[in-house]
Formats: sequence, structure tokens, C-alpha cells
Amino acid sequence: MSIDDKKFKSFLEFYWLRPENAAVKYFQSSTWADIKWRGKSIDICCGDGVYVFLHQGGKFDNSFDCFTDTKKNFSHNKKFVDIYNSFSKKYVPKIIKNPIKNFDVGTDWKTGMLAKSKKLKIFKRLIKHDNNILPLPFNDNEFNFLHSNALYWTKNAPILLKDVNRVLNKDSYAVLEFSTEKLLSTIFELKPFLSKEAFKILDRKRSVEMKGIKYNTKEWINHIKKAGFIIEDIRVAWPNKIIVDFWNTGLRPISHLLIEMVNNLNNRNRNKIKKEWVDIMFKILKPLCEKPKKFSLKEASYITFILRKM
Ligand SMILES: C[S@@+](CC[C@H](N)C(=O)[O-])C[C@H]1O[C@@H](n2cnc3c(N)ncnc32)[C@H](O)[C@@H]1O
Repeated sequence: MSIDDKKFKSFLEFYWLRPENAAVKYFQSSTWADIKWRGKSIDICCGDGVYVFLHQGGKFDNSFDCFTDTKKNFSHNKKFVDIYNSFSKKYVPKIIKNPIKNFDVGTDWKTGMLAKSKKLKIFKRLIKHDNNILPLPFNDNEFNFLHSNALYWTKNAPILLKDVNRVLNKDSYAVLEFSTEKLLSTIFELKPFLSKEAFKILDRKRSVEMKGIKYNTKEWINHIKKAGFIIEDIRVAWPNKIIVDFWNTGLRPISHLLIEMVNNLNNRNRNKIKKEWVDIMFKILKPLCEKPKKFSLKEASYITFILRKM
């Protein structure tokens, strides 16, 4: 497995205070780096759009990242709060390289995320839509390419898959990234050693909120086939157990403190610390991603399906 150092660093720079997210997102992206498309495209659950922006080779200035505009004053242990679902005048992406290809449509159900996406100009049209409500607001056969890395967040993933198939043109490709039932394996391995409160802090309602993580690879394959897709390839996204453990534990429990800390620095100090931080993370994470034995499909906690509509 060879790592695209520049791209890996772009992910680390944007998500720097959550290096575990940077690493897994880079690897998810690398599983479909070879997929090209023509015609009308859509990213379902695009969030702030940065994932596909970086995937397509976009790059930000060092002074801009995921933590420049987040919700403040949240008590993150009590509620599952998406602190990134915020938008203010402060959110001014400093783009130093545009992505090589844009998407026609992006959808998400969060207003703050969609407002952030708009700033990147990577989507021609952004639509607010809750995927629990079907059908999706698109015509049959409307798209020639579809990507999503969040269909499993909904209660109705198998039914949603059928509707995703409906909006695609015959022979068009879909890239769907799914977590398996093994996603949260580490926190459950740690649970017996933690107090109730400590487990709650570490879990931060992930085990309750992530509705679709109940399926294993075989079950996803069944749902995908039933939805009318031909499976062209299945690729392991998160590479190995070390990375899964790193993501499960990670800096999540203290991320609100880190954000507060760095946003109280002046720009010069923030940039200087960030550069050194990213450099350290890159040196540690690159070998840990590359060298340990790669998961088999059966072991994988996050997989990418390359699909074609029948
Ligand atoms: C893990 S994020 C991924 C966002 C983006 N694709 C990325 O990689 O950064 C999951 C996204 O799914 C969206 N989402 C979750 N449930 C949804 C639903 N029922 N309908 C629409 N969007 C949903 C969230 O708002 C969030 O932006």
C-alpha cells in the first residue's frame, strides 16, 4: 500500500486536532482514488464538502481548518452534539488549490454543514434533505455517478439503497463507503475496564446514534445486491486494527478543550504549532497505517463498495 504523502498531509492539516479522523478519511478517499466519472454527479451526505474537496486534490492554506468555526459552550459528554454543524462569518476557506473535478449536487440534512459546503464552490447545487424521508428528491436515472460515505447513519439503510439505485442511470457507478459492525469494537473491548462515566465520555453516544453500524460485510453485500447493484469491487478502507483502535480512542474526549485552546492563540502561534503537530502526526501515522498487516474483508471495520447499476 503506497501513501500519497501530499494528500495525507492535506487531510492531517484540515483535521489536525482529530488526527484519527484525518487518517481514516484519507484511507477512505484512497480506496476510490482511481474512479473517474462523466456526467451528472451527486454526493449524498456531503457534510461540509471538505472530504470530496480534498479527495479531488483541493488544498487549503495552513491558517484554515475544521476548527476555525465550531459551536461553542457545548457540554459534549451529555448530548451528542455535532459541533461542526455551525456557520458564521468566520468560515472563510482559504483555498490555495482547487479540486480537479466538482460535483453537480450535494445533499445533507444539516444547515450549518450545507452553508460550509457552499463556500467551497465544489457543488453546483446543494439540497437539504433527510435521508429518513424517501423517495430522495431526484428523478429516476438522473445521475451518472453517486458517492456517499454516510448512508449507514440512517435507520433505513437497506431501503435507502434501493432509492439510491433508482436515481442512477443504467451502468453508472456508485461509490459507497460503509462501516461494519466492527467499527466500535475497541470501545467495547475497553468497556469492562472503564467506569460508567468514563465509558460515556469515550463513547459520546456513538453506540446509540450510529444506527447502521449493525451490519457485517456479508450483510452489506446482501443489501446492496437486493437494491439492484452489481458489485465491481469491495475494498478495505481503514487499514488495520491499530488505526481502528486509534480512531475509537483518539482525541475526541478532549477535542472541545483543544479547540478552545488553539482558538485562543494568535494566528502566528496557531500556524506554527499546527505545522509542527501535523509533521509529528504524519511521521507517526504513516508507518502505522502502512506497515501492519492489512485487514481482510472479514475483519474490516470500514469498507468501500465500487458498484454499477444493473
Ligand atoms: C460522518 S459525516 C460525513 C460527511 C462528509 N461526507 C464527510 O466525509 O466529511 C455524516 C454526514 O451525514 C449527514 N447525515 C446523517 N444522517 C443524515 C440523514 N438522515 N439525512 C441526511 N444527512 C444525514 C450528517 O449531517 C453528516 O454531514
